[in-house]
Amino acid sequence: MRRTLVAGNWKMHGSLSENESLLSAILAGMADVKADVAVCAPFPYLAQLQVRLAGSAIAWGAQNMSQHAKGAYTGEVSASMLKDFGCKYVIVGHSERRAIYGESNEIVAEKYAAAQAADLVPILCVGETLAEREAGITEAVVGHQLDAVLNRAGVASLAKAVVAYEPVWAIGTGKTASPEQAQAVHAFIRGKIRALNGAVAEGLIIQYGGSMKAANARELLGQPDIDGGLIGGAALVADEFLAICRAG
Ligand code: 13P
Repeated sequence: MRRTLVAGNWKMHGSLSENESLLSAILAGMADVKADVAVCAPFPYLAQLQVRLAGSAIAWGAQNMSQHAKGAYTGEVSASMLKDFGCKYVIVGHSERRAIYGESNEIVAEKYAAAQAADLVPILCVGETLAEREAGITEAVVGHQLDAVLNRAGVASLAKAVVAYEPVWAIGTGKTASPEQAQAVHAFIRGKIRALNGAVAEGLIIQYGGSMKAANARELLGQPDIDGGLIGGAALVADEFLAICRAG
């Protein structure tokens, strides 16, 4: 059986005091959570997560990283720096990075490979826009996003990675993909990997992300190929986040 991984993506939210309240409330409710849980915070707060979450049931990670190991890249943060702060995970290829910061499939693949080289687990985000879905090219788009990583790092690399399917039209919009819509793309992703390596495909955690909340988590997580969630807005509310964790 695959594990379930529920990860919060705080995006550009939080402060030292807000994070402290949120983390205390989540930690206080973890006793009956069976899923694996992680939170991904802005860079400046990783030290806070390291202090607050070390030894707890909650892992932590970053939301982005440089594809470069070191050098003259002003403003960038490397994978080894994330390791210094105890990160287990790093999100790569979030749709906001792709759309707002112009990260191509190839750049995302470089980041994925650099994360693994530093022993971080990349959470690789893939997903189509509304226009792409309406044009009937969802599988082609997601397939290309996966191909870039497969070409760069090989299928075996997915044994140490997580994939998050995040339809862009469902992110922060309150419009969740229906369980059937999400399951269909998750099955496509797993099928594509299965054609290359059955064992890797069966073990691969594929999260769903996009307006996941307490009210829809159980139905989404009940789908055979949905193995967790990457949670934005609902990860900022302890009770919502915990309810999703409990549904997993
Ligand atoms: P929302 O849960 O706010 O839709 O965000 C999803 C997301 O982008 C997580 O990475």
